[in-house]
Amino acid sequence: MNRYDLAGRVAIVTGGARGIGYGVARRLLQSGARVALWDIDEAAAGRASVTLAAEGGPVIAVGVDLTDAVAIDRAIAATLGAFGHLDILVNNAGIAGSTVPLVEYPVDEWRRIIEVDLVGVFLCCRAAVPHLRTRDWARIVNVASVAGKEGNPNMSAYSAAKAGVIALTKSLGKELASTGVRVNCVTPATVKTEIFAQMSQAQIDYMLARIPIGRFGTVEENANMITWLCTEDCSFSTGAVFDTSGGRCTY
Ligand SMILES: NC(=O)c1ccc[n+]([C@@H]2O[C@H](COP(=O)([O-])OP(=O)(O)OC[C@H]3O[C@@H](n4cnc5c(N)ncnc54)[C@H](O)[C@@H]3O)[C@@H](O)[C@H]2O)c1
Repeated sequence: MNRYDLAGRVAIVTGGARGIGYGVARRLLQSGARVALWDIDEAAAGRASVTLAAEGGPVIAVGVDLTDAVAIDRAIAATLGAFGHLDILVNNAGIAGSTVPLVEYPVDEWRRIIEVDLVGVFLCCRAAVPHLRTRDWARIVNVASVAGKEGNPNMSAYSAAKAGVIALTKSLGKELASTGVRVNCVTPATVKTEIFAQMSQAQIDYMLARIPIGRFGTVEENANMITWLCTEDCSFSTGAVFDTSGGRCTY
C-alpha cells in the first residue's frame, strides 16, 4: 500500500459508517488525517468510529441527514469544535433506491433519491467551502457513479442524480480554480457493499456483465483513488472525473 501524507489535515467523510465511506475514512486515518464520519445512521457511525479509533485514528461520529441544511450546519460546528479546521470533504453518502422502470417509479422515492444524492452534495459543499477556502490547500471529492455517465436502466433517479454530481463537480471546480480548493469526482462501477440490498439481483447481474475486468470493484480500490484525490499531490486536476469502473467507461 502506498503511503500518503495527510498529517495535520481534517477530513469529513459523509456516509462514513460503512461501505466505501468507511474504507475512505480508514485510508485517510492511516495517512495521518483526523476524520469526522457523518452519517444518518448515527449508531452505525458510532460503532465505526470506535473500531477506527482502536486502530489509532482521531475520529468522531456525527449524526446528520444530508438533506437537512440546518443539521449540516450543526455537523460543521461539531467537526470544527472537535478538530479546529477543515481541509477535506468527501461527499460519499448515497442511496441507490428501488430498481423500477421510470413510469412506475414512486414520485416520493424519486424525489428523495435526488435530495440525498444530489442536493445533499450541494448542501455539504455550500457549508464546507467557506472553511476550505481559508486553508493553504483543500480538497473536495464527490462520489458519483458510472450510472451518471451511462445511465442504468430502471435507476432513473440515481442515474440523473449522479450525472448531476458530475456536472456540479465540473462547475464548482472551475469556480474555485483560482483558490487552493480542488474539486473532483470518482465514478465507480459496482462495488459489493450493503447498497446491494436496495437493488434486484437482475440489476446487479446486469452491472457486473458490463465490467470488462470481469469482477466487482473493491472498497479498497475506490478508497485508494479517493484518498489520492484528497492529497496535496492532486494539484493540477480540478472539475475532473476519475474512473474506477474496471474498464466499463470509455470516457
Ligand atoms: N456500491 C456500489 O456499487 C457503488 C457504485 C457506484 C457508486 N457508488 C456510490 O458510492 C457511495 C457509497 O456507496 P456504498 O456502496 O458504500 O453504500 P452503503 O449503502 O454501503 O453506504 C452508504 C452510507 O450513506 C449513508 N446515508 C444514506 N443516506 C444518508 C443521508 N440522507 N444522510 C447521511 N448519510 C446517509 C448510509 O447510512 C450509509 O452508511 C454512494 O454515493 C453510492 O451511490 C456505489
